[in-house]
Amino acid sequence: MQDWKELAGLRVIRRMAEIVNKRWNLGVGFADSSGALIRGPEVTRFATHRPFCELIKSCREGRKRCSQTAIGMIEHHNSGGGGEGAVAYTCHAGLTEIYVPVKSDGEEQGLILAGGMFTERHVRRQREKVLSSCADLDLPAEELQKAVRKITVLSDEAQEYLRDLLELVVRETLVYQEEIAHKERRLDRLTRELAERSSYRNIIGKSPPMRELYRLLDKVAGTDATVLIEGENGTGKELVSRAIHFNSSRKNKPVVVQNCSAFNDNLLDSELFGHARGAFTGAVGTKKGLFEVADGGTFFLDEIGDMSPALQVKLLRILQEGTFIPVGSTQTRKVDVRIIAATHRDLKKMVEQGLFREDLYYRINVITVALPPLRKRREDIPVLAEYFLAKHSQGKRKCQLLSSCMERLMDYHWPGNVRELENEIERLLVLCSDDRQIGEEFVSPRIRYEIYHDGEGASSEAPGLPQAIERLERTMILDHLKQARWNKTKAAITLGISRRNLIRKVKAFELDRRRNR
Ligand SMILES: Nc1ncnc2c1ncn2[C@@H]1O[C@H](COP(=O)(O)OP(=O)(O)OP(=O)(O)O)[C@@H](O)[C@H]1O
Ligand SMILES: [Mg+2]
Repeated sequence: MQDWKELAGLRVIRRMAEIVNKRWNLGVGFADSSGALIRGPEVTRFATHRPFCELIKSCREGRKRCSQTAIGMIEHHNSGGGGEGAVAYTCHAGLTEIYVPVKSDGEEQGLILAGGMFTERHVRRQREKVLSSCADLDLPAEELQKAVRKITVLSDEAQEYLRDLLELVVRETLVYQEEIAHKERRLDRLTRELAERSSYRNIIGKSPPMRELYRLLDKVAGTDATVLIEGENGTGKELVSRAIHFNSSRKNKPVVVQNCSAFNDNLLDSELFGHARGAFTGAVGTKKGLFEVADGGTFFLDEIGDMSPALQVKLLRILQEGTFIPVGSTQTRKVDVRIIAATHRDLKKMVEQGLFREDLYYRINVITVALPPLRKRREDIPVLAEYFLAKHSQGKRKCQLLSSCMERLMDYHWPGNVRELENEIERLLVLCSDDRQIGEEFVSPRIRYEIYHDGEGASSEAPGLPQAIERLERTMILDHLKQARWNKTKAAITLGISRRNLIRKVKAFELDRRRNR
């Protein structure tokens, strides 16, 4: 919907009104799509002096006829009387008004109009018409005649100029409005994105799978439910578990992290549940277990799939009753701990193979958060790369990845996910030393020369030597071709092979300029 106040306040409209006022002593106004008249901009320096229109509007019937004129104009336009441009229209009293339709978002919003004048050629006839059509109004005849004499008379040429001016101004305002709408849309989007991400500041990524993740995290945050985070190495399981904790009502309580594969079973047992004095050799005093430390807060059990069957039983009890018994003790302890577990293994399969307790699996798996591997959200690679560049060049000069370098990073299948990308960026920052712009020559060879990847990433089996050589050969040829802008003679020289040999290989590897842009 058009904001007419705002429109009237635009500089271009005010300027136009000034010109119209000063030059011809005519007014500028608006009619919305219902025909309601809206006053034009207040042009104080050039006060509109239209004694005739003011006189007519001083009586009720006159005001009514004026608004009917506006409605008439809208109807005239809607019935196809006017096109896109300016239209001359005769008002109830017989004066000429010029209007231009205002459209926005493809919808008719109303009219912008200027006028209240006579046309030079017909001035006599128009004067007579005005006097007769207004004769029935309750107005003093002498005043009416005086006012009619002051009505502006415009030549055809001047009217043409006025039309051009109105059209130009409407076009300008539409461009301006489109710009504002565009900016507003952008602002909206940014605000939304910010709102979506603000609570997960450290988690970078705006690809669809990541947006999906933020939505799920929002739902999870408000609950106390046990969460199972699944994801390959380096996908951010720990990062996400902390985000869940810091967005929950437990955020001011401890969050404890324990990797279940890092210890032998006995040590892990006493680490998690504590031990009584003399529970085993070396247990000189009692020790609080991490579950007690985490009381009131969140416990992140990393690599839960590595937990022994005995400990799985103890964990199940905590989940069911909130109780446990420290090693070597007979006393039951009670804690209130939210558990977030993580694994890179397929727990369900482990259950089927009898390696993980089914009852524990269902207890843990109340909500599953599956973290997408980086190769499934390649569009996040540039933002992540930027983030790590900034993170690791703190205090140093800001470096930039050249697009060739970014291309390499985007093409790679990232078996080590975000952690691997972070390490690569750190490495690039060290290697490029004084260069502000980081080129592809600094990229690790394994990334630079990997080319085959299907959507699912490279197969888990390592390729044999012939395949590896073929890959390397294909990548190098493609590299040199790109550098030589697909000039095969030049590429053959830099590759150190004959042009004929190169052509044969290009064919064999199905290298095609369009597909390998
Ligand atoms: N979406 C992300 N945004 C920013 N940094 C991330 C993101 N995902 C992971 N990282 C970073 O990558 C590194 C690995 O993340 P994290 O340790 O959480 O992964 P993980 O899944 O627990 O890995 P692992 O399976 O090896 O234990 C960390 O430095 C982390 O900050
Ligand atoms: Mg981890």
